[in-house]
Amino acid sequence: MCGIVGYVGSPRRTKDVLCESLRRLEYRGYDSSGICFVENGRSRVIKSGGKLENLFSKLKDCEVTSSLGIAHTRWATHGDPSEQNAHPQVSGPVSVVHNGIIENYLELKKELVAAGYEFLSDTDTEVISHLICDFTEKGNSLLESARKAFDKIEGSYAVAIMSDTEPGKIIATRRFSPLIIARNAAEFFLASDIPAILPYSREFIFLEDHDFVVITEDGISITDATGEVVNRTPTVVDWDPSVAEKSGYRHYMLKEIFEQPRAILDTLRGRFTGDMENVVLEDVDPSLLRKTQRVIIAACGTSYHASLIGKYMIEEVAGVSTQVELASEFRYRNIVTGPDVLFMAVSQSGETADTSEALIKAKKLGMNSVGVTNVSLSKISRESDCVITTKAGPEIGVASTKSFTAQVMVFYLFSIYLAVLRKAIDSNRAKELIADAISVSKLQQKTLELDEKLKDLSKDFHSYKNFIYMGRGINYPVALESALKLKEVSYIHAEGYAAGEMKHGPIALIDRNMPVVFIAPEEDIYYRKLLGNFQEVKARGGRIIFITSDEDFQLPDERDRKIVIPKSPYLVSPMVSVIPAQFLAYHVANILGTDVDQPRNLAKVVTVE
Ligand code: M6R
Repeated sequence: MCGIVGYVGSPRRTKDVLCESLRRLEYRGYDSSGICFVENGRSRVIKSGGKLENLFSKLKDCEVTSSLGIAHTRWATHGDPSEQNAHPQVSGPVSVVHNGIIENYLELKKELVAAGYEFLSDTDTEVISHLICDFTEKGNSLLESARKAFDKIEGSYAVAIMSDTEPGKIIATRRFSPLIIARNAAEFFLASDIPAILPYSREFIFLEDHDFVVITEDGISITDATGEVVNRTPTVVDWDPSVAEKSGYRHYMLKEIFEQPRAILDTLRGRFTGDMENVVLEDVDPSLLRKTQRVIIAACGTSYHASLIGKYMIEEVAGVSTQVELASEFRYRNIVTGPDVLFMAVSQSGETADTSEALIKAKKLGMNSVGVTNVSLSKISRESDCVITTKAGPEIGVASTKSFTAQVMVFYLFSIYLAVLRKAIDSNRAKELIADAISVSKLQQKTLELDEKLKDLSKDFHSYKNFIYMGRGINYPVALESALKLKEVSYIHAEGYAAGEMKHGPIALIDRNMPVVFIAPEEDIYYRKLLGNFQEVKARGGRIIFITSDEDFQLPDERDRKIVIPKSPYLVSPMVSVIPAQFLAYHVANILGTDVDQPRNLAKVVTVE
């Protein structure tokens, strides 16, 4: 989704810092961009449709002597992705960049048009710049004008504002959309997320809803909704900036696939008791869980697939009934709740609008909540009663890979924790399960050796127009996730199915032109049944990619391919079996020449409905 950056510091660095930060926001998804800085005492706005390179080439010969500026990557919601609709949106002296959606923009637009304002874009954002301009013309300071404007505005927003009436100042505010600030010795930064400004600081302040921040070269001043000056404590992050770099890999997606063993180790670190008989979840209050009768999980996309695996784990290990919901459905439908229901909101970014709204709804319904996020101070982390963080490190590729396996590991840990708490397993069983968790990183490391093999295999399969992925049991959600990976990065149509469901309809699709990818670890408790499904597909001419740990399995047809993964304990097998499918999606996309890290129409952080 849209990304915002702001800088106040040295004139020599303004252009470079803003451009570099925009580049670091690219991963969120965008279709146009723009920048505002001061030139000869007046704001200069430069905008461009398409990739950042278009903006950068316009800026190439532009000497920026301003000590401050704001910039933006836009992901179109209202109005097409054109230069005219790119931000900053300008009204007289006022320039505004915005992330979010203004829900009452049509009413406000009507009022502003009646007051004589001319709208030059199709965006909802333009009402913000006109409103602020209107209030400044009535004699208000820029801060007062912004406050008055946002009193009238409904919806979600993170905005940064500059005005010729008060040059040397950036004002920013937020509601429901993330906005952080940071500083070093003599510079101040503003951004939608940490990776954008990670090279410049390690201490970040997460603004709260309705905070207003004024940044000048003299410092930062934050006031809350009531106008009171407030101190927001900075959070220190230990992310190494290189984690947000490609480090020699061609794409972030490939780098992040390779980072999975490390992400798993980080997610496990410090999370076992000394006797290795229980899990430690540092922020989880056991009293919230002890009486849990039922678990409801809500998430979107890849996080939803990880949650489906979580259901298998929680029911199998802790014996607690678990239901998994698409957050976008949960937030609107009538939910039948009951006593002692635990709600889990699962989100890599911790900012996904549907998931955070589902969390708010669950809390209103009286459920205790646990957030599972990869960003410790994200909205969902802050609003959940307790948080379990995945320690995958920043994930930049739009296609989630390492955050998926880290989420699955968190569910595995959670199910052991819940089981021990409820005395559903004894200490021997807990020890066995923990040993299996510890084995995952090495098993993944071994699986990563399959990269070249999958690259080679992709050459034979990239020209198909459709794919089916099949799995059973805990590997059924892996089939769903694998199909999503292929769809989003290669734009090839793919579906995931529970293999037992095939004969109820989808088997009609099978013919020589339909590759079928089986996620079939031998240790899967349904493996024998899956072999039956294999025969059904073979009998109808389907071409098969068989991902299995069964080295002895003989493929009957030379058109088919077998990928041998290491044998893994059943419950942790999804963290291994998904890796070949991630490689397959990556290499097919590469052959087809798509934009792997920023696939068309997608955004990394979906902060709008
Ligand atoms: O940040 P979240 O985990 O809440 O994001 C949810 C989905 O938008 C996300 O998982 C999306 O489906 C992936 N980028 C797909 O790879």
